Order: sequence, then C-alpha cells, then structure tokens
Amino acid sequence: MQIKIFKTQDEIANFVSDMFIEEIKKESPVLGLATGGTPVPTYEKLIEKTKEQNISWKNVKTFNLDEYTGIGPAHSQSYRYFMNENLFNKIDINIYNTYVPNGFGNLEKNVNEYDEKIAQEGGIDLQILGIGSNGHIAFNEPGTSFDQKTHVIELTEQTREDNKRFFNSIDEVPTHSITMGLATIVKAKKIVLVATGENKADAICKMIEEQPTTDLPASILHDHANVVVVLDEASASKLSSKTIEELVEA
Ligand code: GLP
Repeated sequence: MQIKIFKTQDEIANFVSDMFIEEIKKESPVLGLATGGTPVPTYEKLIEKTKEQNISWKNVKTFNLDEYTGIGPAHSQSYRYFMNENLFNKIDINIYNTYVPNGFGNLEKNVNEYDEKIAQEGGIDLQILGIGSNGHIAFNEPGTSFDQKTHVIELTEQTREDNKRFFNSIDEVPTHSITMGLATIVKAKKIVLVATGENKADAICKMIEEQPTTDLPASILHDHANVVVVLDEASASKLSSKTIEELVEA
C-alpha cells in the first residue's frame, strides 16, 4: 500500500486526475468511478485537463461503484444523475459506454449482468474509491463478506445519516442500494482510495494499521498489489509515526 498525504484539495485532485489521464491516453481504458463528495474536485480537474490537453474520452468505458435502489436515474440524488452532472455531460464520452448499476426492475438480474459486463470489457484498469466513516467502500457495509460480487445491500443507519445531507430529510434516503461487491472491486488492476476530513481518520487508521477484517470493509485493500491511498492531513491525523515513516511517500 502506497500512501500520499497532501495539504490541499487541489493537490489531491491534481495527483488523482493525473493517474486517470494516464489511463485515458491508453488504447481502450476501463475506469471505475465513485460518487460522494470526495471525488468531485478530481472530476473538476479531469474536465479542466481534458479541455487543456484536448483529450478525447471516445474510447473510454466507465463502471460506477453503486446506485440507490428505488430512485430512478432522473432523480437528482441518483448516482447516475450525479455522474452525468459532475462528469459525463462535460466530456465527449459516449453515454452508452458509461455503466451505473440499475436500481430498478429485476435486481437479481441487474447485479449478475453488471459483473458479467465488467468481465466482458476486460476488467477495470483504474478504480477510484472513497471511504465511509464506518470503513465501507462503495456500499459494502461492515460485515459484508470479502467474497461478495455485485449485490443488493441494506444501508446502515450511519450511512443513511451520513448521506442525508444530500436529501431533504432522512426519510427520503433510500434504505437499499446495489453495490459492486468487495470481490468485484479488488479485481481492479489499480486502485486509488481518496479520503479527506477528520471524520475519515479512524477508518483510515484501522484500514492501514490493523489486520483485514470484514468489520472494516476497506481493509480488504491490504492484500491488493496496486493500491495508492491519497489523504489530506486531517484524514491522516490518526496514523502512527511508524506508518508515516514506513509507508508515506513524498
Ligand atoms: C457513499 C458512497 C461511497 C462513498 C462514501 C463517502 O456512501 N456509496 O462510494 O465513498 O459515501 O462519501 P463522501 O465522499 O461524500 O464522504
């Protein structure tokens, strides 16, 4: 696990967007994308660099991590809507090459098809992840088996509480979602996990310093061969000096 700590959001966005640009310039890139507040500055930077460097996304395929069930793609808090607004509508990607799990209809069929589609496209080259304050990645809540593929999950009260800021009230926050499973996520060839803010410091510290456990889903990343953890000073504030000495790269 490689760890980078930056002082500003801008530096984080710069570093992570460069990782993506490198992939996008390859022949047929498959990108894994995330929602939430954390990746937004990276998407803004990506849009900026796409214009500046005249980059085309025509050959890019994307797979998003998760989607709420029961709210449609037109709902302003659906992750499909989020991705269209924050990235896809601002670049020249073919919208049919952008995949977000479908939270409507036959959910069992949808989850199986999602894993099959990722495999068909040759797997994900670079996956961006955020982290929940309880250590979830995508919507894999504590207790989720490391062997799970894409599936439907009931959200914990803490996650619904964390995400209610995007809705009018907690009652509007969906109770379930479709999420890429942990086994699906770790198949990505390269992973960049980004965390900012003090409310992520505990989860980050446990993920890096403790043994992998299903109590902290993000700890599955321990055994992945190619993970970069990108932090600000607040989210890194609980790391021990031993970790900082041994793992943090300048
Ligand atoms: C949500 C998403 C996750 C995201 C997490 C953190 O629950 N499903 O993919 O990483 O929240 O979100 P934020 O970046 O807003 O803190």
